[in-house]
Amino acid sequence: MFPYKITKIDGNDGKELVELFKGQKAGFVQVGPKKWTLPAKYAEHAEKYYTFDLRQDDLWIIAYPRSGTTWMQELLWLINNNLDYEISSKTPINERFSFFVPNTMNSDKYLEEIAELNDNDPEVMKVLENIAIPVYVTGEAMKSPRHFKTHLPLSLMPPNLLDTCKVVYLARNPFDVAVSFYHLSKLLKSIDYQSDFEKYWELFEKDLIMYSPYWEHIQEGWERRNHPNFLFFFYEDLLRDLHGNIRKICTFLNKQMTVDEIETLADHLHIDNFRKNCTATSKISKIKGMINPGAQGFIRRGKIGGNVEFNDVKIKLRAEKWFKESLAKTDIVFPEF
Ligand code: A3P
Repeated sequence: MFPYKITKIDGNDGKELVELFKGQKAGFVQVGPKKWTLPAKYAEHAEKYYTFDLRQDDLWIIAYPRSGTTWMQELLWLINNNLDYEISSKTPINERFSFFVPNTMNSDKYLEEIAELNDNDPEVMKVLENIAIPVYVTGEAMKSPRHFKTHLPLSLMPPNLLDTCKVVYLARNPFDVAVSFYHLSKLLKSIDYQSDFEKYWELFEKDLIMYSPYWEHIQEGWERRNHPNFLFFFYEDLLRDLHGNIRKICTFLNKQMTVDEIETLADHLHIDNFRKNCTATSKISKIKGMINPGAQGFIRRGKIGGNVEFNDVKIKLRAEKWFKESLAKTDIVFPEF
């Protein structure tokens, strides 16, 4: 049974969130004592996701949004599928790697509006239907090994997850995560963020951005970093030493790769190539109304730091203070960034 209480975010916070995140028409909930902020629709599915039937050969990536999840998905899928570049180039990443709980991101009202905007075009309806079908319905028919990605924190996942299958966790520094999520929230009409970065950062600090609290998310991963079925990475480490970390993942997945194969894979995953090849938004970007045309793309800079959003000294100082104080309450050791 799902063990946590789910409460609608009401009052001033609730009103403000609905105004600021125009695509999230049903509003937000908070889950359990850690107050995970999630789209309201999550409440309808929480128990089914929590009790999802796992298989021993499932492979999972868990990350707070914008931590490099898609990059890691491609990496894991290719290693786990004997470097099948042919299938990877033909099949969108979200079809090879199912998004656990995507349907909660898109409110019913939003999907109805998109359908209407596209005159109920059958091709569009097919994509929208697929978005709306929960993985706990489609999962049983999926061929093994199944690959799943989620932004849910570990404590909202099936409790037997780590004792059943392999899980990779990816963490990234909060400054880059917040800037990247801010831009994604402007890009996707399902979120459609309405204000500036200063306001966004204020909400991030208050744990009111989806999938927050950020620190708890990472702490839950960090605490399990020595579990044999669990591999914890920092985005920053991956970026600095992709080759070495590919080797680490091979060992974790019991796969062998030659030096040349590692070289080819690292090249395939390089941001300049991945930006061209990544299929994460290939389907929705063809649908009228799902993407805000003026916003930055899904694969953006792929760098550590240097985001202009922190050029404002006031935000920068405030964020650094928050970072130091929050980090001091944990035992997480971030790589330098
Ligand atoms: P930026 O917006 O800072 O560039 P997610 O997949 O979890 O949504 O994460 C997206 C972030 O990962 C984006 O960060 C994106 O540019 C970055 N990213 C994607 N592919 C990458 C790659 N091949 N190398 C480095 N960073 C990558």
